[in-house]
This record gives sequence, C-alpha cells and structure tokens, in this order.
Amino acid sequence: MERTLVLIKPDGVRRNIIGEVISRIERKGLKIVALDLRTLDAETAKTHYEEHAARPFFESLVEFITGGPLVAMVVEGERAVEAFRALAGATDPVQAAPGTIRGDFALEVQQNIVHGSDSTYSADREIKLFFPDLA
Ligand code: GTP
Ligand code: MG
Repeated sequence: MERTLVLIKPDGVRRNIIGEVISRIERKGLKIVALDLRTLDAETAKTHYEEHAARPFFESLVEFITGGPLVAMVVEGERAVEAFRALAGATDPVQAAPGTIRGDFALEVQQNIVHGSDSTYSADREIKLFFPDLA
C-alpha cells in the first residue's frame, strides 16, 4: 500500500489543530501507521527541504520548521501521496480551496500548517529520514 510523509508544522501544533488535521486524514479513509511529536534539528530540516536550498526563503523556512514541536506521521492508503496533497490544498493558502486544510486554516505561504510528500519517490526518502526504523 502507498505511503506518504505528513507533517503538522509548528504553526499547526501552536494553534492546537493537531486533532483537526488527524481527523481529516482519518475521515478520508487514510491510515496513520507512525506518529511522533518532535522538534527538528537544523540538519534534518535542511535535508528534508534540500530541494529548496537555493531559494531565497530557505533560511527562513528552516528556522520556521525547527522553531517548535511538529507532528510527523506516516500515512498509508490508496494513492496516499496524491490523496493527502488534495486534502492539504495549494501551497499558498490564499489560493488553496476552502475545504482543504490550508484553505481553511492558513493565510501565509510559509506557515501553511502541513507538509505532504510530493511523489512516491519523495515519500520514500522522507519516511526514511523521519522514521528510519519503520519496516
Ligand atoms: P511542503 O508540503 O511543505 O513541501 O509544501 P509544498 O510541496 O506545497 O510546497 P514547496 O515544496 O514548494 O515548498 C515547501 C514549503 O516552503 C512550503 O510549504 C512553504 O512552507 C514554504 N514556501 C514555499 N514557497 C515559499 C515562499 O515563496 N516564501 C516563503 N517564505 N516560504 C515558502
Ligand atoms: Mg514540497
């Protein structure tokens, strides 16, 4: 079964909407197979977002994602990567459709509540980074 890495970013934890996000994942029919509340170190954050290393917002993104505890999850189901990206909505929360997580709960592009792997290839890499012991 397909798996994806989902993060409830520090802004989502700070705003007490962990339950809200998890509830949407469960309602959709996706299964949570690993879950952990943790604060990322800069090295892990940089590896996670390495595709954005040359972007002007990279430093700010690393600071944000390491700035407080986040929830890391492995989510499993039919086309889980695409299914979660659809639940999350567009990267820019102003563009994200109402009814999506970002569309309903966020206004700023950096503080957009959740991360979801963008391909099965990324999911593999990210799940190994966050949950190296997961079978
Ligand atoms: P992730 O699931 O978090 O990877 O989001 P995404 O795949 O929808 O977007 P992308 O990978 O392009 O960007 C990664 C993250 O960087 C976004 O989710 C935002 O938190 C942040 N980000 C993206 N674009 C910008 C930007 O223009 N400015 C700032 N400050 N942050 C950005
Ligand atoms: Mg991305």
